[in-house]
Amino acid sequence: MDLDQFAALRTAEGSAALAAATGVAGGDPLVAAAALRSRGVPAGLAAAALTQAELRRRAVGKFGPEAAGMFLTRPGLEQATRRVVADRRAARLAAAGVRTLADLGCGLGADALAAARAGIRVYGVEADPVTAALAAANAEAVGLADRFTVECGDATAFDVTRVDAVFCDPARRRAGTGRRIFDPDAYSPPWDFVTGLAARVPHTVVKVAPGIDHARIPADAEAEWVSVDGDLVEAALWGGPLAGVPRRATVLRAGPADRQRPAGGQATPGDRPTGPGAGATDGHQPAVPGDLPERSHQLTGTGDVEAGVGPVRRYLYDPDPAVVRAHLVAELADTLDATLADPSIAYLYADVPRPTPFGRCLEIVDVLPFSLKRLRALLRERRVGRVEILKRGSALSPEQLRRDLRLAGENPASLVLTRVAGAPTVLVGRPVADGGPPG
Ligand SMILES: C[S@@+](CC[C@H](N)C(=O)[O-])C[C@H]1O[C@@H](n2cnc3c(N)ncnc32)[C@H](O)[C@@H]1O
Repeated sequence: MDLDQFAALRTAEGSAALAAATGVAGGDPLVAAAALRSRGVPAGLAAAALTQAELRRRAVGKFGPEAAGMFLTRPGLEQATRRVVADRRAARLAAAGVRTLADLGCGLGADALAAARAGIRVYGVEADPVTAALAAANAEAVGLADRFTVECGDATAFDVTRVDAVFCDPARRRAGTGRRIFDPDAYSPPWDFVTGLAARVPHTVVKVAPGIDHARIPADAEAEWVSVDGDLVEAALWGGPLAGVPRRATVLRAGPADRQRPAGGQATPGDRPTGPGAGATDGHQPAVPGDLPERSHQLTGTGDVEAGVGPVRRYLYDPDPAVVRAHLVAELADTLDATLADPSIAYLYADVPRPTPFGRCLEIVDVLPFSLKRLRALLRERRVGRVEILKRGSALSPEQLRRDLRLAGENPASLVLTRVAGAPTVLVGRPVADGGPPG
């Protein structure tokens, strides 16, 4: 979309085209285009309206019902923070007393809108003129234009002395190709600028790729990894008084309520999670105001403790990816009385199952050195016809293995392809209902 197309969509004729496009989006694109043409919508406007309606449909999963009134671009939507994560971050900033925030590289405004909803005055800066215009329109669309304003410009030129906090979610995709950038030095705004903010502003938060090398994390920052429904979605570096602990894993369960909090709802300052050195939390105390205990769980620690190693035991835990990336497997092992069976593989084993939101639990029924023949024979004997396949430390392709097993039977099983003390091993088990994450 360019600025002219956006301006056309904002006219009365454009709004009518958008409404018509919303009614036909999601079906056959040729039929949808014909439907708009039959109403006399000019071809260019019809194409822009249909693209917008399609993006809004896709955005519902990320933003909830508010997506219906937002203006979006494909790259902007792909890079935007989902609402459940943005709302938590905003609530944590508000709880720390932040009243004014600069969002440096605000994109379409997903994070900025969440902060504005939490009662924070947000100054957005965005280098791309179309994205900046769309972010401003989004503030208007959700009734937050008085708390979130956007200027088009270079974030590095923003006078940060005007605000008490800065949030930066640097672009991690190449403009044009959309290809992911893995090297923080290639982020925009640049990594040095982003990490240097902590020395210039009282409170800072920087969103980074979850695969960030721990060696790149500034020593005095808190690094937090966030998963939603078991998918690792981001990491964030918290600076200044916001840095509560060296490493944090936050495990969120999204639910309709997360996406439907009313706009303008203000967070109130409340309890902070843990202080430095406070060790692992059990995750059952709200970390930020408004957190629902059954939806948000936190595990904290230093990130440099090694878990103990022992034999394979009756119960296996597959830790949540946020726990693994945060290097908090040892802290989780402590809460479960568990050990690793191989020092380099993040499966934990314990004698008793304990409910935990930080990983799935399987009861292990068989342990065998990996051999296709033996495994096939065992599954035949057990009449196993369906398997889920988990793997860590194995180069085998689950799909190929599933084909090679030629399963037949009425029973399900869980297979775990891994290594035990260095040896390729397959574990056969079944899920433990109350040892897994709450649904
Ligand atoms: C990852 S996106 C931000 C997404 C946003 N947090 C959200 O959830 O909607 C990064 C944005 O930073 C912008 N950007 C990159 N370098 C910039 C710079 N030097 N100044 C201002 N904006 C910049 C990009 O155009 C892009 O829209």
